[in-house]
Amino acid sequence: MSLNAQSLILGIESSCDETAAAVVEGGHKVLSSVVASQVDIHRKYGGVVPELASREHLRRIVPVVREAIDQAGISLNDVDAIAVTRGPGLIGALLVGVTYGKALALALKKPLIAVNHLEGHVHAVLLEARVAGDAPKLPVVCLIVSGGHTVLYHVSGAAEGPQTRLSYRRLGGSRDDAAGEAYDKVARMLALGYPGGPIIDRLAGAGNARAIRFGEPKMKGNPHDFSFSGIKTAVLYHLRRNPQLQPEVEARRQALARGERSFEVLGALSSPATLDLIASFQRAVVDDLVSKTLAATEQSGCRTILVSGGVAANGELRRTFEAETQRRGLKVYFPSRALSTDNAAMIAAAGHFHFICGEREDSTLNAEANLPLA
Ligand code: KG4
Ligand code: ZN
Repeated sequence: MSLNAQSLILGIESSCDETAAAVVEGGHKVLSSVVASQVDIHRKYGGVVPELASREHLRRIVPVVREAIDQAGISLNDVDAIAVTRGPGLIGALLVGVTYGKALALALKKPLIAVNHLEGHVHAVLLEARVAGDAPKLPVVCLIVSGGHTVLYHVSGAAEGPQTRLSYRRLGGSRDDAAGEAYDKVARMLALGYPGGPIIDRLAGAGNARAIRFGEPKMKGNPHDFSFSGIKTAVLYHLRRNPQLQPEVEARRQALARGERSFEVLGALSSPATLDLIASFQRAVVDDLVSKTLAATEQSGCRTILVSGGVAANGELRRTFEAETQRRGLKVYFPSRALSTDNAAMIAAAGHFHFICGEREDSTLNAEANLPLA
């Protein structure tokens, strides 16, 4: 089969700390999606350690690809093309996927397709919307919000049809930390374990989000830019001004050292004052993400918003977007939680459209740590 709308694409993703492979048919039917998370390896460092990530990708890539092929019920020879994440991401991590993808394409005599990881996040939303028979009407504004990125794009083109080719225009992005990075750093200060997003998401529900007011980030220049380092520092100053919160930070640190990192254990070791701090931090981040995305949507005349990336799994972010878009008669799309975080189904789905447009890479393909989408 070639140049066919029903193409079988093997996707490979290794840009950060997830080794992933997936088989996707026709750009949206996920036959398999295998994700080997390295979170247990990076946890004790409170963030991704690039050298360890590369080494782990090397160890996992072959079994992960084999599992994706097995779960799809096909053989490697059945795939029509191999789509691999070229960037952006950690260079050593990217190189593992790119090199393996090139070798596989060469050995199998299959076309090789390069995918921008951020375009993958856009397709994570589109592929599920297509499966649900509810493809968003383009143009849209897409917020990609994860541990590595917080960026707004204007996405145009046609969401349907075999020759779909999307165009991207960058509207703004974080000038310092990504939103997920702020979650992880605040979780580290508060001794809530790694990654910080999921536990802060749950604990925030028990706090008063209006208890502490963090000022909105003041920025000159592009109004669609974000900044999250200020709020992270504000949390640090709040902790310094409130030394009575330190004993519980220490108690949680000890619980983490014993390997006790469940929501129940860490929640029981968190006072109402800490829960208020967590809820107020989350409120400030969510308000900033939602208000800037809405402003960009309004300014560009779009009626639809896509939200993707690890932080898109956040309950408060979803609820706030749902409520605010409904009030304005706009529409918002999220991926399922499984496709919010890094995966290879989104890489295969994005690769499908490059494949049917006839794009091909050769063995000179290289990974690019700072590959821009637009
Ligand atoms: O997309 P992803 O898996 O990897 C990157 O490309 O970074 O995103 C991981 C990030 C982490 O910073 C994690 O704390 C955050 O997403 N995250 C969340 C939630 N689940 C994951 N942040 C807030 N709320 C969540 N429920
Ligand atoms: Zn990502």
